[in-house]
Amino acid sequence: MSTKIYWFSGTGNSLAVAKAIHESIEDSELIPIAYAMKHAPEAAERIGLVFPVYGWGPPRLVERFVRKLNPAPDTSVFSVVTYAGNPGDTLAVLSRMLQARGLDLDAGWGVKMPENYPPMGGPPEPEKQKEINGEAAEKSAQIVSELKTSPHGTIERSAWIWRQLSKVIYPGFRRFVPRADRWFRADSTCNGCEICAKICPANNIEMENGKPKWTGHCEQCFACLHWCPQGAVQYIRSKGQPRYHHPDSEVSDFF
Ligand SMILES: Cc1cc2nc3c(=O)[nH]c(=O)nc-3n(C[C@H](O)[C@H](O)[C@H](O)COP(=O)(O)O)c2cc1C
Repeated sequence: MSTKIYWFSGTGNSLAVAKAIHESIEDSELIPIAYAMKHAPEAAERIGLVFPVYGWGPPRLVERFVRKLNPAPDTSVFSVVTYAGNPGDTLAVLSRMLQARGLDLDAGWGVKMPENYPPMGGPPEPEKQKEINGEAAEKSAQIVSELKTSPHGTIERSAWIWRQLSKVIYPGFRRFVPRADRWFRADSTCNGCEICAKICPANNIEMENGKPKWTGHCEQCFACLHWCPQGAVQYIRSKGQPRYHHPDSEVSDFF
């Protein structure tokens, strides 16, 4: 069965899960969603969507990508969402988006991974990161074995209370995202290396007088902040917080 695994990731958590699936599933291909947005999607018998939870729902980029999908109706679809605390109702929201394209979500899982959102306090201590990433690797292996058994599998569901709260939190957060880049800035340690501009999946960063400028159509992935070699990119509460990326990811994965 040919499988195209589409991924979106700011700090490599979702990419690590996508890579684990790709390495174990024959005839599979890894495709960044940011790249796929600019090219016609190719046919596949199965599609995988792997991405982080933002504000208890899917990132806006994923929403736009799903709207662009035009596969055969019998295409099987699975999804893995990574999250740091609570995935809300992300898989159910995704399922509704897919249904609007004539597709069913056949299997879906959440994988808990380290936090990368500075306003929530940033990443945990290194020991805790290691523990969380170890458990995430175990969960990924479990997902792979389910995917190998059948295209139809578990669709994980949050508790009723989180699903209800999601209905309020996700639309609010979704509206807030594009202009939320007004709080980004480069501090005096910025040396104008342009890595932030090169890896931004939304092409939202322009260089002005040798410094990055965020231009108002951000996806809030925080790749610019976490991958800055100088730690010069700042956001709400980020000063003094450690930067994070998944140990299996390199900045070159994001170019
Ligand atoms: C803008 C933003 C919003 C987030 N919202 C949530 C959330 O609602 N629930 C949650 O558990 N984690 C949330 N997180 C944490 C990420 O989902 C989590 O760290 C994820 O594994 C990051 O994956 P990535 O490295 O592939 O980008 C959020 C992170 C960001 C940057």
